[in-house]
Amino acid sequence: MKIVNYAPLLNDDWLCPEIVDREKQRKELYECIIKPYLDGNHPPGCMYITGMSGSGKTFVVRRMIENYLNDIKKRVPKFEYVYISSKKLQTPSINSLFHSIDSCLLHYFPVTVYGRKITYLKHWRDGTCLEILKEILGREICLLLVVDEIDRVVKYENKKGNSGYDLMYLLSDLRNEYNIFTIFISNNRELSENMPLEVKSRIPLFINFSLYSLSDLYSILKTTAKYAVDEVDDDALLKVAKEIAETTCSARDAKRLLYYYLTTNSIEEAWAKMDINGVKDDLLNLNHQQKLVIKAIIVAERYLEKLKKRNIPKRYKKDFVSSRDAYKAYCELCKIGGIEPRAMRTFRAILNGLKDIGLIQYNRIYVGKGRGSIGAIGVENKDILEGLIKDL
Ligand SMILES: Nc1ncnc2c1ncn2[C@@H]1O[C@H](COP(=O)(O)OP(=O)(O)OP(=O)(O)O)[C@@H](O)[C@H]1O
Ligand SMILES: [Mg+2]
Repeated sequence: MKIVNYAPLLNDDWLCPEIVDREKQRKELYECIIKPYLDGNHPPGCMYITGMSGSGKTFVVRRMIENYLNDIKKRVPKFEYVYISSKKLQTPSINSLFHSIDSCLLHYFPVTVYGRKITYLKHWRDGTCLEILKEILGREICLLLVVDEIDRVVKYENKKGNSGYDLMYLLSDLRNEYNIFTIFISNNRELSENMPLEVKSRIPLFINFSLYSLSDLYSILKTTAKYAVDEVDDDALLKVAKEIAETTCSARDAKRLLYYYLTTNSIEEAWAKMDINGVKDDLLNLNHQQKLVIKAIIVAERYLEKLKKRNIPKRYKKDFVSSRDAYKAYCELCKIGGIEPRAMRTFRAILNGLKDIGLIQYNRIYVGKGRGSIGAIGVENKDILEGLIKDL
């Protein structure tokens, strides 16, 4: 069994053409969302989906919608489908999320909000992005919105002292006035347990994704393997499925472990690689700007190392890469790539996003009287990142 295409095993954006099992959840999604659209009725609504990481939430929802998308578009005039993963936002903030939704609806621009005609999208700090969405919804469009990894937004806003649940409140409330159906997806159990009543009562539909069993994991591997390897070896698939069924029960982990098992030929080595190479999967799922910023940090780190070796006064040497150093390297990389660099403020927001994923450390450090504080960046798993960055 040799790998011919690694994407089905490692890349979350690769959607398997077939859904294995999940009959109950598929039926619920079909009955509550797909069928009404296909019947030409499209009542607004709200759904909350939860389940452990790797239980197929994102995949099943996206696959189901994409399978029926063309038929729905034929039945429902002005139908729009927007999928947003908060993992891919520069910052998992409410504002950033509305900005991202608007950016998928740019074909409705220009819009008029607060009496102003807006022809292009910006990162406004006030509620402009939400107002733009409302204006567009007001044109009798029918929007199916999926907000994935909602727990990241809630956590981020809570940390900033706001109520993270505001987003769920706002979106679930929009359906009273507009034709919008929102699906929230989360893998955090606590999120639904701590949900305020006024939010909970606005979300009438709830789907739970239970843990995968050994036979589910085996079937998922068998189906996925068809697209990833030259010849399927059932014993190897069963071995990997058993390992995962005894540990995380995550379909994502099962696919990864299979990948490392096939590349190392040893289950122990495969497990050892799982931890390290989790970083690689994180990198694969980053957006273009995030990848550029990681590259810039590595470039700035290398420069710092060189500087440390040079015979110059100590005060010119630093122990860490500052956000300014990294920004300079980022602008250089953008120039080489012919890309317009983002502003420093956006750059900082991207740094915060990468910190959130756990790829970098990013903290403000006080550097002395009169000099204030600067952003200090540290890289987790530096050696691995350096090796991987070449492939990006
Ligand atoms: N029923 C299934 N059939 C085929 N493939 C599946 C199935 N369930 C999961 N997978 C595969 O497993 C991977 C992980 O699933 P998915 O991304 O949907 O997990 P998740 O529940 O959204 O996890 P998280 O909460 O971490 O985002 C996906 O790449 C998907 O292709
Ligand atoms: Mg997911």
